[in-house]
Amino acid sequence: PAATMDEVVALCKRRGLIFPASEIYGGIANTYDYGHYGVLLKRNVSDAWWKAMIQERDDIVALDSAIIQHPKTWEASGHLSGFSDPLVQCLGKCKKRWRLDHLQEAAVENGEDPAAVKCPQCGGDLTEPRAFNLMFETNIGPVQDESSTVYLRPETAQGIFLDFKQTLSYARKKPPFGIAQIGKSFRNEITPGNFIFRTLEFEQMEMEFFVPPEEAEQWYEYWCQERLNWYVKLGINPERLRLRPHEADELSFYSSGTSDVEYLYPIGWSELEGVANRGNYDLTQHAEHSRQKLEWKDPQTGKGYLPHVIEPAAGLGRTMLALLCEAYDEDEIGGEKRTVLRLHPSMAPIKVAVLPLLRKDGHPEKAREIYEALRKRMSTEYDDGGNIGKRYRRQDEIGTPYGITVDHQTFEDDTVTLRDRDSLSQERVPVAGLADLLEAKINA
Ligand code: GAP
Repeated sequence: PAATMDEVVALCKRRGLIFPASEIYGGIANTYDYGHYGVLLKRNVSDAWWKAMIQERDDIVALDSAIIQHPKTWEASGHLSGFSDPLVQCLGKCKKRWRLDHLQEAAVENGEDPAAVKCPQCGGDLTEPRAFNLMFETNIGPVQDESSTVYLRPETAQGIFLDFKQTLSYARKKPPFGIAQIGKSFRNEITPGNFIFRTLEFEQMEMEFFVPPEEAEQWYEYWCQERLNWYVKLGINPERLRLRPHEADELSFYSSGTSDVEYLYPIGWSELEGVANRGNYDLTQHAEHSRQKLEWKDPQTGKGYLPHVIEPAAGLGRTMLALLCEAYDEDEIGGEKRTVLRLHPSMAPIKVAVLPLLRKDGHPEKAREIYEALRKRMSTEYDDGGNIGKRYRRQDEIGTPYGITVDHQTFEDDTVTLRDRDSLSQERVPVAGLADLLEAKINA
């Protein structure tokens, strides 16, 4: 992509989409706040995910499970013992700490030898790996002892497994079916994050699809393709998307197959989402640790089995970052440089801006009237500050696909000009039916 990470970071800060958290205290590493347009963009991404997972299907149900679960959850899942992550420290000048798996992932993605990684900061050698638990701990109640320790979830997936049986009891579904949720997860990340690519807290969009064991492979292939296609629908160029199957030595111990959906970020090919065939590992573990039966029983045959699980696990922040990198562009209008976000209209935080040409002659009143009608149907902005070119420029920067201008002619024939962000075409359209026209364009 043409954009550099610095350009995207600068635009996000300048227009208040995403900026460092706690900045008045000097900031806090790998932690960001989302401002007005960032919140709107984020909602568009999560709405698109819910639409694809829930609204347009009848084999997936929704869930919103707790962030703090019983601590046994993380014994069963392996997060407390099994996958303590290997930590290495630079022996060279910078002494930075890194997660070894992150360095190795980056090496594999960029075709380098994962066994020969060096410090990315200063090129120094690295220490032997040490185990490190990525979960944030806290305590329930005033006494801090082992019995009161709980953890902030490092993935939303486990909440889904804990509620598998509960969901079966009310949802009237049988395998193959899925449970989907979006929510915050927390990881004590020490590798520098590349903006919102890797943060301490982040939103995951995860779906666990429970299938008869003999259908697992077929559903795994299906979800790999579905998920890849979803990003194309959001406006990502398929040339900067790929599906990368994990090598045998990269696979998590519970997985018999994992593919990453990768995007060509300015930092190189990196993971947007993982699609994993988790087998029946999780249900087996939770059945053992809870001493509950987590089988699905076929009412016809009376036979029970533990379903296998196919898991597409995506990151909301990483999707936003890909959309922003993809959309960022610079061009010239009449010899003047412009920054423009060429977001898909369905993703744009603001769909249309309504602008009075003049701040007199009834233009503002008429423009506000149109604005107030449109905002009932879509995310709309009214702006009368500064010359018209400046106002368009402001909208271009946040990716607003359409601009409507009220001018003298509006009072003669009840039409306005409709400006297109990308083609810069301006056409006269009637005020009547404006919302329908715009909706048709946005959903095209
Ligand atoms: N339940 C499986 C699981 O959590 P993962 O590959 O560790 O798998 C899934 O995470 C997705 O969550 C990643 O592909 C990424 O998009 C996002 N993600 C993971 N760690 C993240 C972090 N520290 N910051 C931002 N996003 C993260």
